[in-house]
Amino acid sequence: MKRKKTFQILTLLITVSISISAQNRLVIDADRGEGTISRHIYGHFSEHLGHCIYGGYWVGEDSSIPNTRGIRNDVVKALLDIRIPNLRWPGGCFADEYHWMDGIGPRENRPKMINTHWGGVVEDNSFGTHEFLDLCEQLNTEPYISGNVGSGTVEEMSKWIEYITFDGESPMANLRRQNGRNEPWKVKFWGVGNESWGCGGNMTPEFYSDLYRQYATFSRNYGDNRLYKIACGANQADYNWTETLMKNAGRHMQGLSLHYYTVPRNWNDKGSATNFDEEEYFTTIQKTLFMEELITKHSTIMDRYDPQKRIGMIIDEWGTWYNVEPGTNPGFLYQQNTMRDAIVAGINLNIFNAHCDRVQMANLAQTVNVLQAVALTDEEKMVLTPTYWVFYLYKVHQDATLLPVSFTGNKYRQNNREIDAISVSASKDANGKIHITLVNADPSNEQRIETQLQGVSVRNVSGKVLTSDKINDYNTFEQPSTISVKDFKGAILSGSSLSVVLPSKSVVMLEIE
Ligand code: AHR
Repeated sequence: MKRKKTFQILTLLITVSISISAQNRLVIDADRGEGTISRHIYGHFSEHLGHCIYGGYWVGEDSSIPNTRGIRNDVVKALLDIRIPNLRWPGGCFADEYHWMDGIGPRENRPKMINTHWGGVVEDNSFGTHEFLDLCEQLNTEPYISGNVGSGTVEEMSKWIEYITFDGESPMANLRRQNGRNEPWKVKFWGVGNESWGCGGNMTPEFYSDLYRQYATFSRNYGDNRLYKIACGANQADYNWTETLMKNAGRHMQGLSLHYYTVPRNWNDKGSATNFDEEEYFTTIQKTLFMEELITKHSTIMDRYDPQKRIGMIIDEWGTWYNVEPGTNPGFLYQQNTMRDAIVAGINLNIFNAHCDRVQMANLAQTVNVLQAVALTDEEKMVLTPTYWVFYLYKVHQDATLLPVSFTGNKYRQNNREIDAISVSASKDANGKIHITLVNADPSNEQRIETQLQGVSVRNVSGKVLTSDKINDYNTFEQPSTISVKDFKGAILSGSSLSVVLPSKSVVMLEIE
């Protein structure tokens, strides 16, 4: 009898402890800010690659697709709705073979070139400096221009800056006026080369540091235009590159870039965008989580040379990279975008927010029709991807104050591997509203989170959710709303405690007033 009772108590204790350990606990310090999440973390990247520029933005003034001065209206409208803060252009690898003077003046006179990196297609230069800066004005976004170091010259780059930003009498400013633009543009973000360790010239960090200093010296500030010069940074975990650049050229830069792509398999066979099993899904998420380690380790090096965190880490290429869609040009990097991509986007953006003391900008590769695009187009049709909807949900973090979060939670297990099931970020905006973004990477199990909000009295909670039946669901031109944002009803408020049930494979944004 006594033994039976002991057994019952033990069983009860085990059950209680299992249910406690199966809980996710989140504490948010709502009255303690941890710095500003730069809106530029929500930036984008568009290269002369496949149908990103041509077809994605540029259809030409004579097109039957509704456009403003040749730039398609549907894409502009969609991007305005997610408030993209900056746009990087013209590459990528293309930047280091781009000669800007080929892309100005009457379009019919512009020389053609071969886009050797991306499919060997003819680039007719019909989209050049004026068209790009017009696009930025239509998007109400800041331009981020990547200058050519790999096959250009110091003179060519310094003249480009003069052409765009100089207000006085000079050969370049006069040429700009001759081409129809009187006022100079304001351009702040200026990249000095791209992937100079690879497609941008296969340089050593020592050689590039010297070149960077030379190019940066002749990248002038005209009038009140102040360039924020971004040096080419490391490929993934090349910590020696960061060390050398910081040591040799840190004084001359405002930003140092970092590139990291999430590739499920390997560079020869990256895996399909839509046809993958749970094993490959798990690997993708595990690989995307590597971003946390990369930022931490590169930051540690940067901290040694720049403890004041004056130099921004600029993650100007990130996102998923899969095999191209069957039957499409391998050089065009056209891929579909599923709920898996939404999970990847949500996790990365949460990571960037958490490191906003160092990460001052990030640019998803690439905006339209290339890699982890937010929009896909086919002639006059356009569809918004799950990744688009993540940017739509997360725009609330732009320029908000990061709030400290302390989180203990469940694991997502697959065979004998495990990763955190949940990713979280919280911020307070200028109106005092708190926003929490949550990702549940677990494709099969919902997650209950008990949340404590400290330092605020809370009146109301509302939310939005992005989820789908299957992890490889996606939107098509025929069925554009398979994955789209819905109202979220899974949050219950009681005093300063918030109980949230995240559906499996979901991205949720909560607004707390
Ligand atoms: O985004 C596609 C390519 O990836 C870019 O051109 C290059 O910088 C990177 O290797």
